[in-house]
Amino acid sequence: MSIKPVKTAVFPVGGQGTRFLPATKAVPKEMLPVVDKPLLQYAVDEALAAGIERLVFVTARGKGALEEYFDLAWELTESLQRRGKTAELATLAATQLEPGRIAYVRQQEPAGLGHAVWCARHIVGREAFAVLLPDELLWNPAAPALKEMHDVYARVGGNVISVLEVPAEHTHRYGIVSPGAADGLVTQVKGLVEKPAPGTAPSRLAAIGRYILQPEVMDVLAAGKRGAGGEIQLTDAMAEMIGQQPFHALTFTGTRFDCGDKAGHIMANVALALERPDIGPAVRDWLRQQAV
Ligand code: UTP
Repeated sequence: MSIKPVKTAVFPVGGQGTRFLPATKAVPKEMLPVVDKPLLQYAVDEALAAGIERLVFVTARGKGALEEYFDLAWELTESLQRRGKTAELATLAATQLEPGRIAYVRQQEPAGLGHAVWCARHIVGREAFAVLLPDELLWNPAAPALKEMHDVYARVGGNVISVLEVPAEHTHRYGIVSPGAADGLVTQVKGLVEKPAPGTAPSRLAAIGRYILQPEVMDVLAAGKRGAGGEIQLTDAMAEMIGQQPFHALTFTGTRFDCGDKAGHIMANVALALERPDIGPAVRDWLRQQAV
């Protein structure tokens, strides 16, 4: 049986972003820029590169800026056209998808990532779907993370998640894989534990915010079971599916920035700025002058 390509991606953006207060009091975390693009745009570009056609944003109160961002700003467009600002006009192209490709659904309370994903169930329907957490910036322009996962999915089907080997002392911050057989970068997933207590992690393979999942995960999430932190955890729901469906992890080979964290966000800005031909040289010169 041939495996159908994944066409829908869910972007859970309902979190409160407390680590980024006070900025996130008025600006959604996903709209914080890395150089000149909001975090969300990087995740959307990654999804489009993987062939995603439908984008579902699970938003919450105070996230209105997201809808504005993907809307047609006709006054701005007209004014740029009048003034012949073609380069600036071109930068807007990626913010404007064909009407009907984006849907928004509200998560009415921040009950956890699993709950946010479940809020998208009626739009996702009964097909495999992708989940991308935009605050995880997975930077690998030559081989975007979701595209690589999708290639693996086309071979093995079932569920495919992205993982990274993290230092043993950091495993308590992540969903950690209990690994089975490995074939290159692809590891069979035998179990998943959300934020294991220090010293108890079954491996150092941490889930890093990209998932291709089968629709049955929505049925598991529907039970509304609370896990770590009293939240409905996606990791717990995925763990229940292991053994019933194929489940694999693909190790990400690019650079991952945790942009939900202040230090990670600043590192992403510096790293991506250095790669830019327009501002890279100035930033590099300035960094060299710093006695660090
Ligand atoms: P985080 O754990 O980073 O939580 O969520 P947060 O609220 O965004 O940020 P902090 O920890 O308070 O600073 C990981 C992802 O899950 C989404 C977030 O938007 C983020 O993309 N999420 C989390 C939801 O959509 N809803 C939730 O209830 C919780």
